[in-house]
Amino acid sequence: MHCNLRPALLLRALLSCGEAGGGARLAKRYVGLYTGPYFDPSAPNNITTQLGTHAYLPCKVRQLSNKSVSWIRRRDAHILTVDRFTFIADERFQAFLVEATDTWTLQVKYVQARDAGVYECQVGTEPKMSHFVQLNVVVPKIEIVGESDIYVKAGTTVSLKCVITQALEEPAYIFWYHNDERVLNYDKSLVEIRMERVAPDTTVGNLIIYSPRREDSGNYSCSPSNLDSASVVLHVLSGEQPAAMQHGNSAARAAPTLGALLGAAAGAACGARLLSVHAAPRALLRLLVLVAFALVFPVLCHDEDVLVERK
Ligand SMILES: *[C@@H]1O[C@H](CO)[C@@H](O)[C@H](O)[C@H]1NC(C)=O
Ligand SMILES: *[C@@H]1O[C@H](CO)[C@@H](O)[C@H](O)[C@H]1NC(C)=O
Ligand SMILES: *[C@@H]1O[C@H](CO)[C@@H](O)[C@H](O)[C@H]1NC(C)=O
Repeated sequence: MHCNLRPALLLRALLSCGEAGGGARLAKRYVGLYTGPYFDPSAPNNITTQLGTHAYLPCKVRQLSNKSVSWIRRRDAHILTVDRFTFIADERFQAFLVEATDTWTLQVKYVQARDAGVYECQVGTEPKMSHFVQLNVVVPKIEIVGESDIYVKAGTTVSLKCVITQALEEPAYIFWYHNDERVLNYDKSLVEIRMERVAPDTTVGNLIIYSPRREDSGNYSCSPSNLDSASVVLHVLSGEQPAAMQHGNSAARAAPTLGALLGAAAGAACGARLLSVHAAPRALLRLLVLVAFALVFPVLCHDEDVLVERK
């Protein structure tokens, strides 16, 4: 059998010329050709990781014996680790040996964009031997589709769409915040939150507000488990208010015995939904609303109990 023994191809030649068998057996068999450590070319040297996750850079060294293994950052020639010891004031870097695979792995926790670059695995032979590993950091993009200010009429369903692209990992969840307060969707007739992976690297999160009120206006942000957030400002215009008021007044007319005051409170709660009665003290207003509920609303304003829960 013919073997090409040019140095760069030596190991490959050995592998291809050997009889069928595992790499470990071959290494053992040709141990005489490698009197010292050598890098196993089967280990990947181009690692791609998503921002914020942990990266693992392998350095597979056969016949290492008692030689030390260092990891050096190419960008600034900083020595990160020597064997198990970390030599940088950044606890995200750590090296460990998996003896079963002869691999010294550099772990980089919570990868940042500036960690991208070349890392050198250096074996303390004389002269030194080096193996280079490229680390790529993927930074997913996140945006809420459309303008940064969204205008809707009160009562008109609005759907906010948050799109995450170029992601290696799907977020475990997407939280939505309204003025920094978490939006919950326990009543799906008011608010619905959805998340869907539409492509291998794309996830879409939806926040649907079925009948927005003026007080639903404000800053909405979409915050995935593993990424920065994106935000928009929603402006709910009170265009629907007069019609809603009328509905409220008809409720009051249906129960004339309750009197004008109660009718006004009912109108405010059922129609304008507390908004238009700025003058009344909140506590009194709530009391009136509760009384109104007890007497009239179960029949006429079936969605108002939900409103109170939400408050
Ligand atoms: C390394 O992997 C990245 C992402 O898969 C790719 O874009 C790049 O071209 C690769 N680089 C080399 C040198 O193979
Ligand atoms: C490694 O082992 C050899 C003998 O096996 C010894 O001569 C040498 O001093 C050792 N080197 C280190 C760094 O311990
Ligand atoms: C909206 O809220 C987010 C998260 O708190 C914040 O980063 C952003 O600056 C806010 N946007 C506006 C326009 O206030």
